[in-house]
Amino acid sequence: MVTIELRVNGREHTLDLPADMPLLTVLRELLGITGPKNGCGNGLCGACTCHVDGQQPVRACITPVSSVTGKDIVTIEGVADGTTLHPVQQAWIDEDVAQCGFCQAGQIMRAISLLAENPQPSDEDIDAAMAGVLCRCGTYVRVRRAIHRAARSER
Ligand code: FES
Repeated sequence: MVTIELRVNGREHTLDLPADMPLLTVLRELLGITGPKNGCGNGLCGACTCHVDGQQPVRACITPVSSVTGKDIVTIEGVADGTTLHPVQQAWIDEDVAQCGFCQAGQIMRAISLLAENPQPSDEDIDAAMAGVLCRCGTYVRVRRAIHRAARSER
């Protein structure tokens, strides 16, 4: 066991944990932050995507909690500004992206990272960036539309 200090969505937490416990387990089971989903648990589907240190996307299911000690961690619960949704969240609603919804927090977190790196992505840029976040409902066309909408709104 090690003592870990985490900052999640702006709140500080001090926890005694096994150093190799996945960040996703800490978020969901110990802190009750359930936006990041456990899809595959193996770093393959992207449903657990969070941001660490800015808008760097990480797969929380394969990130040992000890590796993010002292870093800023943001989940889907932390991207809105009070009651004002993040432009990507708003675009998701405006384009009615979600179907079952399971992967959508991961989709949105990855899309925010993409727009931070590339504020005006092409269709090809979007497809390349989002390819690692799997959607079994096949919402990819709406995901692409929502990212373009968010890009326009952030200009
Ligand atoms: Fe983490 Fe699938 S649950 S990548």
